[in-house]
Amino acid sequence: MKIVSFVSTKGGVGKSSSTILIANYLAAVGKSVLVIDTDYSNSTTLHYLESKAGLRGKGFSQAVKTGRLTDNIVSTQNENIELIPSNSDIEHLVLKDDLVLSRLVEMEHKELSLYDYILLDTSQGFNSTINNAIYASDLILTPVLLCQFDMISCLTLQSKIVEAEKMSSWGLFFNGVNQYAQNKNSSHYQYISLYKKTFTQCLNIYLPKTSAVTNRIDRDQKITRKTSEKIFDGVASLVEIITGEPVSEPVAF
Ligand SMILES: Nc1ncnc2c1ncn2[C@@H]1O[C@H](COP(=O)(O)OP(=O)(O)O)[C@@H](O)[C@H]1O
Ligand SMILES: [Mg+2]
Repeated sequence: MKIVSFVSTKGGVGKSSSTILIANYLAAVGKSVLVIDTDYSNSTTLHYLESKAGLRGKGFSQAVKTGRLTDNIVSTQNENIELIPSNSDIEHLVLKDDLVLSRLVEMEHKELSLYDYILLDTSQGFNSTINNAIYASDLILTPVLLCQFDMISCLTLQSKIVEAEKMSSWGLFFNGVNQYAQNKNSSHYQYISLYKKTFTQCLNIYLPKTSAVTNRIDRDQKITRKTSEKIFDGVASLVEIITGEPVSEPVAF
């Protein structure tokens, strides 16, 4: 069981989208995945559940309060993906130290080992839940957009990651990359160069800006290599970094 969290202090960069795409890809190649939604906005929860009705309080903040992650797991329509949803009181959740989540995972290690991967979607900004996700993760992935605001927010996040001594577990990947990114005069080319100079942890992964992402998430249209090669290959590269080994290619995810 490997824990991966998707973290950025900036919103709208693709944390939830990449969590969902990667979970779906891993599930499509037969891996067992637990997705944990720790964001008040419920993006991943509502992607996997049609509504929050019937959850009877189950969710991440309930797990923290009761000390039981496994009691808060629900199934999804995807037989290889289970979910700890987000609770509505999650924005007020304060974890009392950096290792609350690490201890919860350790306590139920045996049951959680049934999952190949635990993917944690986090909220924007910075709070004790995000910090706990950083401490508990084997890998922290940050999608970055090619703009100045996002670059500044990555510097803030980097200081938190250094504090947690997790630099070697951190990877940044580029999201929303446009078709001109290989042209030296384009702003995307220049931002990519600047990110690479500023952050040692940049991965050579470039997810294109494409309607295939929104069609997958909002309309349930699966991604295939034939129809959307760049996003397919980008997600496959992220999956390979997560698994640390080549994974068979799904027909669609
Ligand atoms: N590569 C992409 N191409 C097109 N749209 C994208 C891409 N990545 C994210 N989006 C869209 O951008 C919006 C914000 O993404 P989201 O994953 O919710 O960000 P976050 O979780 O970081 O706030 C969503 O509407 C999502 O569908
Ligand atoms: Mg999100």
